[in-house]
Amino acid sequence: MQQFPAKGSYMEMLSTVGLRREHLISPVFVSERPANEAESMPGMPVTPAAQIVSRVQSIADTGISSIIIFGIPKDRDRNGSAAYDRNGVVQTAVRKIRAAFGRQISIITDVCVCQYNLTGHCGLLVKGQVHNDSTLKVLSEVAVSHAQAGADIVAPSSMMDGQVRSIRSALDRQGFSTRILSYSAKHFSSLYTPFRSAAFAKKGIIDKSSYQVSFSNPKQTLREIETDIQEGADMVMIKPGLAYLDLVRAVKDRFDVPVAVQNVSGEYAMVKAAGKHGWIDEGEWKALSIASMKRAGADRIISYFALELADLLPE
Ligand code: PBG
Ligand code: ZN
Repeated sequence: MQQFPAKGSYMEMLSTVGLRREHLISPVFVSERPANEAESMPGMPVTPAAQIVSRVQSIADTGISSIIIFGIPKDRDRNGSAAYDRNGVVQTAVRKIRAAFGRQISIITDVCVCQYNLTGHCGLLVKGQVHNDSTLKVLSEVAVSHAQAGADIVAPSSMMDGQVRSIRSALDRQGFSTRILSYSAKHFSSLYTPFRSAAFAKKGIIDKSSYQVSFSNPKQTLREIETDIQEGADMVMIKPGLAYLDLVRAVKDRFDVPVAVQNVSGEYAMVKAAGKHGWIDEGEWKALSIASMKRAGADRIISYFALELADLLPE
């Protein structure tokens, strides 16, 4: 296989599109269980809450100042109640990070219940079905508990209708000006499976097509974005990344709020796995795929490659 000329050419791809550290958001898995590595995400640590400050320090050392936190609880129940526990894993981690770094790190939290319940679904089940309206109240409680702990931005990812409005009004009632980054257009995809094997009670492919957006309905994607902006989202997100870059561009051109894209766990796993076998050049693909997200118009890119990319950006 032909070897690419390495670092220099990857740095060039990224600088051609103007990617800088402030565009990158690094995911952080924080767990109440012992440290390990996400099984299908080689190189991605799962950090116990007790060690969260040193993990965030290693991110800050690369010059990246924005993180998104995903929690993995020790105990789970039917309704995912650990998600809004004031002393839950995310709430504890946020307080520690805030105490150690002040405003130096911008803290985003993922707001959902799927890591905390037994089914891995993003809502409460009523008669075996995810029930939109009873989930809204729980999501608001989760968001408020994150705001209380000191999150700068809450990112609802459950795809319930009305989640932004309901969270916005709960935050307002409690006097929080915390911003909302909505996972507005989260397409149902098997590309979230590596994340789920790291974070869920139930491993494997889960069908979330009743509430996540379909690939075959780009008009719906744009409606979801528009609705979220009307409901008070400060920033919107499209995920996964690579297969949806036309929509990133459409949203960038059509709306005024910043657009984020999430380069998801399956996109990371594909590049890592093929790279490890020498079937593709890993460095080329991580640089090229992230560069294309920037070129499509993403203002922020959430990527498990964030730290490796920081190494490819000029000081
Ligand atoms: C929680 C959540 C998921 C992801 C982000 N937030 C899992 C899911 O919706 O099943 C996926 C992220 C990734 O795959 O990198 N709702
Ligand atoms: Zn979820």
